[in-house]
Amino acid sequence: MAVRTLQLDEQIARAVNPGQIVVLGAGLDTRFWRVPVPESARIIEIDSAAVNELARRLLRGGGRGRRVDARIPGGVADALERAEFDPRIPTLWIAEGLLEYLAGPMWERLAQLMTANSAPGSRAIVTVVGENLPSRFAHDPAFPFPRLPSLSAIRSVIANEWRVDVVEARPLRGVPSDAFAIMVMQRA
Ligand SMILES: C[S@@+](CC[C@H](N)C(=O)[O-])C[C@H]1O[C@@H](n2cnc3c(N)ncnc32)[C@H](O)[C@@H]1O
Repeated sequence: MAVRTLQLDEQIARAVNPGQIVVLGAGLDTRFWRVPVPESARIIEIDSAAVNELARRLLRGGGRGRRVDARIPGGVADALERAEFDPRIPTLWIAEGLLEYLAGPMWERLAQLMTANSAPGSRAIVTVVGENLPSRFAHDPAFPFPRLPSLSAIRSVIANEWRVDVVEARPLRGVPSDAFAIMVMQRA
């Protein structure tokens, strides 16, 4: 995870724009204390009310972004409106460690929402823990995701609207590239 986070930092530093950044499932993310962003960039961080409250307590006010409470994907459109998101300017979407919590149709809904709200020049960086994660992880009783999707199924949902590069995140020997990956997406 630590190695993947550093890989994400690099990808995100390259993709940051002066418009807006939406972090989906922000958790206790501290990225924008590390990765420089233009002053003008608006950062919107979406998570549940309980996690946002925790972030405010632990991260001195919640970090650099504006925290918005929402259920993903159902509450995201509303949350964006509340946060004064502007669909006319390019957005960088970030979903790190989120997809494995969303069942297939929920990813489809989220992807549709991202597509509909992505002006030309928008990008997205999304991590995927796919079904080919070696059984030594997936069979651990503490492993919380019983049904991992396949990377190809996730990609197929966005194939027409986004150009996708897959960056391998392989900190562990023997982990296949479609099991632990970063999708770097550009609005087609
Ligand atoms: C594994 S954490 C990743 C946090 C952060 N992105 C990071 O990489 O450090 C997943 C986060 O997604 C949030 N999350 C998962 N499913 C969600 C949903 N349906 N709606 C809102 N937040 C959700 C959780 O509350 C949690 O904070």
